[in-house]
Amino acid sequence: MKILVVGGGGREHAIIKKIKENKNVEKIFALPGNGGIAADAECVNIKATDIDLVVDFAVENKIDYAVVAPDDPLVLGAVDALQAKGIPCFGPNKNAAIIEGSKVFSKNLMKKYGIPTAEYEVFDNAENALKYLETAPVPTVIKADGLALGKGVIIAQSREEAKEAVRSMMLDKVFGNSGNNIVIEEFLTGPEVSVLAFTDGKTLVPMVSSMDHKRAGDNDTGLNTGGMGTVAPNPYYTETIAKECMKKIFLPTVDAMNKEGRTFKGCLYFGLMLTEKGPKVIEYNCRFGDPETQVVLPLLESDLLTVMQSVTNETLSETEVKFSDKNACCVIMASKGYPQSYEKGFEISVPDDISDSVYVAGAALKDGKIVTSGGRVLGVTAVEDTLEEAIEKAYKKVEKIKFENSYYRKDIGQRAMAANKK
Ligand code: AMP
Ligand code: GLY
Repeated sequence: MKILVVGGGGREHAIIKKIKENKNVEKIFALPGNGGIAADAECVNIKATDIDLVVDFAVENKIDYAVVAPDDPLVLGAVDALQAKGIPCFGPNKNAAIIEGSKVFSKNLMKKYGIPTAEYEVFDNAENALKYLETAPVPTVIKADGLALGKGVIIAQSREEAKEAVRSMMLDKVFGNSGNNIVIEEFLTGPEVSVLAFTDGKTLVPMVSSMDHKRAGDNDTGLNTGGMGTVAPNPYYTETIAKECMKKIFLPTVDAMNKEGRTFKGCLYFGLMLTEKGPKVIEYNCRFGDPETQVVLPLLESDLLTVMQSVTNETLSETEVKFSDKNACCVIMASKGYPQSYEKGFEISVPDDISDSVYVAGAALKDGKIVTSGGRVLGVTAVEDTLEEAIEKAYKKVEKIKFENSYYRKDIGQRAMAANKK
C-alpha cells in the first residue's frame, strides 16, 4: 500500500513510524514532512494547507490511504477533497472538524447537549465584550473563535488584562478573522488531562490518557508553547473518572455530532479539566495532539493502520485497539528562545541506537545534514514499566542528542510523579 501523511511535525513522525510497522505498507509520503521525517518517509515539499496540490499529488501517486494530521487542512476540508477523488482518509470531514475550528460552535454544542464545560458568553463585537468585562469575575478566559496556532487563549488575571485581550483580538485582529467572534468563559481549576479517542461515529475507543506540559519553563512558568513534554498514562485519570467521562462527555459528544448531521470520524481529542465539580471539557481538537501522540502511539500494541482503516470503514467496534500498561515520557528539545525568537540552522546529531524513539518536529536537510529549523526541534520518548523509569530513560536519551542552542524542561513528568505518590 502507498500511504500519504499530510503534515510535518513530531506528531506526524510518530504516526509515520507506527504506520510503517504494517507489513502491507510499501511506501509512505509525507507532505511536507521535515528533515528528520525524511529518514522514514519520502518528503515532498507541498504545504499541508495547499489542498489542491495535496489532492493532485495523491491522485498522481495512486495513494491507497491518506492520513490528514494537522488542524488547519482538516478545518479547510482536506479530507472532503481527497474523498471526492476516491481516496480513503483518516480524519474528520470539514463539517465535523468545526468542533476545533470554531470555539463558538463547540461551546454551543456542549450547552445544547448538556456536556460539562466552563460557563461562557459569546461576543461578535468589542463594545459588548468590553462592557461585559466591567462586571465579569476575574480571572477570566478569553478565547478567539477560530484557529490561532494554539495561541488564541488568554487567561486574564485582571479586568484590564481581559480588556486588552479583547482589544487585541477584536480590534487589532492579531489572529485575523479568527478573532471576529470571541468566547469569554469561566476560569476553571484542576488537573488537566488529554484523552485522544478513535471514533467512527458509531463506536468510540479512548486511547491511553496523557498529560501535556504547555509552559516553556520548569515548574510551569514562562510562556505557553505548543507543548514541552508529555507523559502517559495521566495518573489523575482514574478508572472512575474514565467511566464518568465516557458517559457524560465522550459518548454524548459523538451523539451530539451525529444529531447535528456532522458525524465525526477520526481522532477526537478531549482536553479535560478535573474540577471539584467533576470533569469538564476545556477544548476539543479534531486530530491527534502534539506532543501527546509521541507518548500515546508508542504504547499502542495494535496495528495503527488497521485501526485507522476500521474508523474509515466504520468497523471500529470489531477491531482490537490494545494499549500496553507501561508508561511513556516524551521530552521536547527546543531551540533556546522558543516560543519567541530563536536562532536556527544548527546541526543535529542523534545516535543511531536511539533514533527509533526520536520524533522530529523542526529540522531541515541542508547539504546532507539535519539542521534545526523550528522552535520545537524534536521529541524523545522512552517507554518503561514505571513512570519514574520512563522519565529517567527519556532524559538519558536527551543527553545523547546534541545541537547548539538546545533547550528543554528538566521537570517533565514530575507533577505526575507527585500525583502518583498521593
Ligand atoms: P487551549 O489553547 O484551548 O488548549 O487552551 C490553552 C490552555 O488554557 C489550556 O490547556 C488550559 O490550561 C487553559 N484554559 C483554557 N480554558 C480554560 C478555563 N476555562 N479555565 C482555566 N484554564 C483554561
Ligand atoms: N498538545 C495540545 C494540542 O495538540 O493541541
